[in-house]
Amino acid sequence: MEVCQTIAGIREYVRRARERGAVGLVPTMGYFHEGHLTLMREAAKVCPTVVVSIFVNPLQFGPTEDFRDYPRDSERDLALARETGVHAVFMPDTAEMYPLSPALYVEVERMDTVLCGRSRPGHFRGVATVVAKLFNIVRPDSAVFGQKDAQQLQIIRRMVRDLNFDLEVRAVPTVRDSDGLALSSRNIYLNAEQRVAATVLFRSLETARRAIQSGERSRPAIEKIMVETISAEPLAELDYASVYRLPDLEPVDSLDGELILAVAARFGKARLIDNITMRIPG
Ligand code: PAF
Repeated sequence: MEVCQTIAGIREYVRRARERGAVGLVPTMGYFHEGHLTLMREAAKVCPTVVVSIFVNPLQFGPTEDFRDYPRDSERDLALARETGVHAVFMPDTAEMYPLSPALYVEVERMDTVLCGRSRPGHFRGVATVVAKLFNIVRPDSAVFGQKDAQQLQIIRRMVRDLNFDLEVRAVPTVRDSDGLALSSRNIYLNAEQRVAATVLFRSLETARRAIQSGERSRPAIEKIMVETISAEPLAELDYASVYRLPDLEPVDSLDGELILAVAARFGKARLIDNITMRIPG
């Protein structure tokens, strides 16, 4: 497995690798768990060469967020990537990615004003900007993202369309622990009690799903079910529990078509998110 710290290095690697066929990119911020490895395996299904980027992107963290504390363990990450069959890891430092303070960004319209965008202003601009840079650096044929970060996934899909990136975006379902908790690098912040409490996120989504399956068609009623479930957990500090229409995260009046049910809450220092999608016949 090749490890490249420079843009010139990964470009040269990809130039040679392209002779073998398609190149798949898995953009990550490292601190791998099974969810990341699933993305890498998905890329390997469709591309003979898999490149993984590891970069904790300062642009997507707010001034009071956990950029400095974000968990990092590059040695372990490299060992896991190697075991998973990754061909190259692109691991730039901040100076390599941002030699100058940026004068241009990828601005996200409207899709970043809902869900996580409300409590994380500028976050999706930071994500879209770094992902656009990674696409331009690696020029992958496919890029793989997790469904857990559903808003990020939809914004990236839209960016690829709006800015004509010549690649396919593939999504991989959320990987969960046996009790339903979605895997996340930030789960490391949870103590034992918070870890148990955090399962309330998936429970709230499952309760809402069952209500819809039993015929409930009022959006406020579904949001109330999720809010009440999460609020009943004393260690959870609710951020949002909302329903939006896919793919463009538009507000929902009637519960039909392709929808996302999404929740976010804080458990101590950890801000966790989760979602499910549902197709409801009209
Ligand atoms: O999902 C992540 O890990 C990050 O937001 C991403 C896509 C690697 C951009 O920094």
